[in-house]
Parts: sequence; structure tokens; C-alpha cells
Amino acid sequence: MLKILVTGATGNVGQEVLSLLQSHDCNVCAAVRNPNSAKHLLASNIQTVPFDFTNPDTFDHAFFEVNKLFLVRPPALANIRLQIVPALNAAKLAGVEHIVFLSILGAERNRFLPHSQIERYINQLGIKATFLRPSFFMQNLNTIHREDIKVRGELLLPAGNGKTSFIDVRDIAAVAVRTLIEDGHEGRAYSLTGAEALTYYEVADIFTSVLGKRVRYNPSVINFVRQMRSKKLPIDFILIMVAIYTSARLGFSGNITPDTEQLLNRSPLTIQQYIEDYRQFWL
Ligand SMILES: NC(=O)c1ccc[n+]([C@@H]2O[C@H](COP(=O)([O-])OP(=O)(O)OC[C@H]3O[C@@H](n4cnc5c(N)ncnc54)[C@H](OP(=O)(O)O)[C@@H]3O)[C@@H](O)[C@H]2O)c1
Repeated sequence: MLKILVTGATGNVGQEVLSLLQSHDCNVCAAVRNPNSAKHLLASNIQTVPFDFTNPDTFDHAFFEVNKLFLVRPPALANIRLQIVPALNAAKLAGVEHIVFLSILGAERNRFLPHSQIERYINQLGIKATFLRPSFFMQNLNTIHREDIKVRGELLLPAGNGKTSFIDVRDIAAVAVRTLIEDGHEGRAYSLTGAEALTYYEVADIFTSVLGKRVRYNPSVINFVRQMRSKKLPIDFILIMVAIYTSARLGFSGNITPDTEQLLNRSPLTIQQYIEDYRQFWL
């Protein structure tokens, strides 16, 4: 039976991938750093194996008899050569046949992005691969921006009036599962966006109407940095976020592609639907 190993298993996309794989006839295993804490996040029937990208002692057991790997680069691991490549080498040695890698929109155009380095290394290793290149996750709004929206009714981020083609991680996971289960996606790369591109003013208006309380968009970069600092977030992380939102402000995040719709045979989820489904996060 096909054995699939899911990394980033406790994260936004990994959790959804695991949950969708439950209805398929395959042997699924969640690669987790800490099986005890993962238990609280994953369904009780999900098999786990200890795995840490930075601990090579975990590799042999985790990759044992794995046919397919869903690969997520943890956001904190930026040194690809030291922190990701050893695991990829171990996957190759263990005979992993296909990697579905959660990359990022535009990875093919920016060689310095960690995701771009990973894509190139997988190709160099000669493992068959499918690259999923999603745009900005809707779920950032119920994780990193949750408290601002919930407590102060403020969507505070410096994206100006730029549009973003948000995608729901549930759609990314559905695409991932299709590319893991079905043949024919090897050697392909998909740019995954939602079906609409919205400014954060428009997003704030949708929040206001769905939650029934006023949510205001504040694009001030100074307030954003101050707020992030007050949450004790590391300065490099804050600067990366400013860079990402600046690129949205400059109009680089609004492209809409047909890939998600073609792979799902339906329209991608809208931000209105996402806010309705997750409304309890902000109330
Ligand atoms: N957010 C966006 O808008 C966006 C858009 C495009 C692409 N992406 C890319 O998507 C990826 C993140 O996906 P996500 O949001 O689903 O993940 P996430 O929610 O940030 O979760 C990260 C996962 O990595 C695991 N992890 C952390 N350090 C690890 C280590 N040393 N070894 C093994 N596992 C480790 C975490 O497990 P623990 O439970 O052990 O911490 C967790 O499961 C990033 O590469 C990001 O650049 C994000």
C-alpha cells in the first residue's frame, strides 16, 4: 500500500492534508517533532513518527518505506543547505519516489527565496516532484493577525491599497492530496491563488459585515512594526513580513491563476466563505 509521509503535520496546511488523506486508501504517517504535543492537534487515529529537519538521527525511521513525501519548509528554517538538504538527501537514500513540495507563488522568479533553493535541490537529486506555489494564506488572518482583529477590531499591516489573491489552506490541501494520490503530476508546478484579488480595505469590510462588528484596516508601517515588537516577535521575522506586505502594496500579489480551479474542478473558496467558517476565531 502507498505510504505517504506528511511533514509540517501540525501546521496550517499539513493538518488539512492529513485530515483529507484519511478518506483515501493509503498508509499515512505524520512526521512530528514532538509526538506528545502533536496528539492534541491531530486526530487520534493518525499515526505519527518523530522527525526533526535539524536532527539527522530521526531520518531513517521517518523515511522507512515511504513512497511519497509531502514537504513543508518550517518558516524558521532559512538555511536550506544546513537545515533542509540533509533530510532531502536521506529521503533520496531511503527511496522516496515522489515529493509534493509546498513552495510559494513566484518561487521560479526569485532564486534567493528558500523555496526556490529547495525546488532546485529536489530537481538536482532527481526525485520526481510536484511544486505547489500558493499565494498568501487566508489563514494568516486567524493566526498572526487574529488578536488585532479580535481585540481592537483592527487589520494592521502595511499593504497599502495593493490587492492580494488570497488562497484558503483547505484548497491548497485539497490540491496537495490530489497530486499525492493521482498519477500525472510529477514534474509539474502549480501556481495556486484564489479566484479574486482584494485590497485589505475590502477584506476589512467583509470582516465587518460577517462579524457584525467594525473592523478597520490600518496600513501604517510604523504602527505595524511597533505592534509586532510589542508581541516580542524577532526583528528578522518582522522585516520579512514588512517585505511581503510591501510587495503586496506595490501590486505584486494580485495575480490570479486558473490552476486551483482546474485542479479542484470547482471555484476556490472565497474570503467571505473563509471568514464565515472561521468567525469564532475573532469573536
Ligand atoms: N503563510 C503564507 O501566506 C504562505 C504563503 C505561501 C507559502 N507559505 C509557506 O508555507 C510554509 C508553512 O506552511 P504552514 O503555514 O502550513 O506551516 P506552519 O503552520 O507555519 O507550521 C510549521 C510546521 O513545521 C513544523 N516544524 C517546525 N520546525 C520543525 C523542524 N525543525 N523539524 C520538523 N518540523 C518542524 C511545525 O511543527 P511543530 O508542531 O513541531 O512546531 C509545524 O508543523 C512555509 O514554507 C511558508 O513559507 C506560506
